[in-house]
Amino acid sequence: MSGDEMKKRAAEAALEYVEDDTVVGVGTGSTVNYFIEALARIKHRIEGAVSSSEATTQRLKACKIPVLDLNAAGPLPLYVDGADEANRQLQLIKGGGGALTREKIVAAASERFVCIADQSKLVDVLGAFPLPVEVIPMARSHVGRALLNRGGQPVLRENFVTDNGNLILDVYNLQILEPAKLEAELNNIAGIVAVGLFALRPADVLLLGTVDGVRTMRL
Ligand code: 5RP
Repeated sequence: MSGDEMKKRAAEAALEYVEDDTVVGVGTGSTVNYFIEALARIKHRIEGAVSSSEATTQRLKACKIPVLDLNAAGPLPLYVDGADEANRQLQLIKGGGGALTREKIVAAASERFVCIADQSKLVDVLGAFPLPVEVIPMARSHVGRALLNRGGQPVLRENFVTDNGNLILDVYNLQILEPAKLEAELNNIAGIVAVGLFALRPADVLLLGTVDGVRTMRL
């Protein structure tokens, strides 16, 4: 079975968490794209969606799912999003698609965060996937030095500007043993907009698509 089929399994399973007449927070990425396809089938049952990126907004609109402003629609009962890595405490690395800041905002404004992923995303220790950090352009070098001082190897994501007009530094060589502590520490560096660590607000449920079906992990 391919990774895509496992992503699709996880995405389909997330439909069970969608309640009638509610607004659903929708993340970004290839796994979420399967969720959007599934959500389109039950769009008559929901009020609409809050989107975490321009890419997701386009896909939601193409499926004729109303896209609502978080300021008007929040707080939300449910946020569904993928991940680049997840540990057994349901702490995540996200931002491979560069949408981490808006993803973090919608996750923070949601009562329940259901993470959908294929089984390859489950790890013992976060950090093999380079940690995305969104940075204000003028702070790129300052933040880069601060990350080097913490043992990481920051690499500027080439030819990439976020939906918020900022840059992404992908940080290699971090073995993240205390994710919540590192997230809080990095949040304090001037010029960092958001860190792709979702540890202070982890997922509540992880739906992992596997060859044997969908494995549900909860906190
Ligand atoms: C985008 C993200 C995605 O959730 C993450 O990159 C996983 O993507 P995919 O579902 O394509 O594997 O954080 O910013």
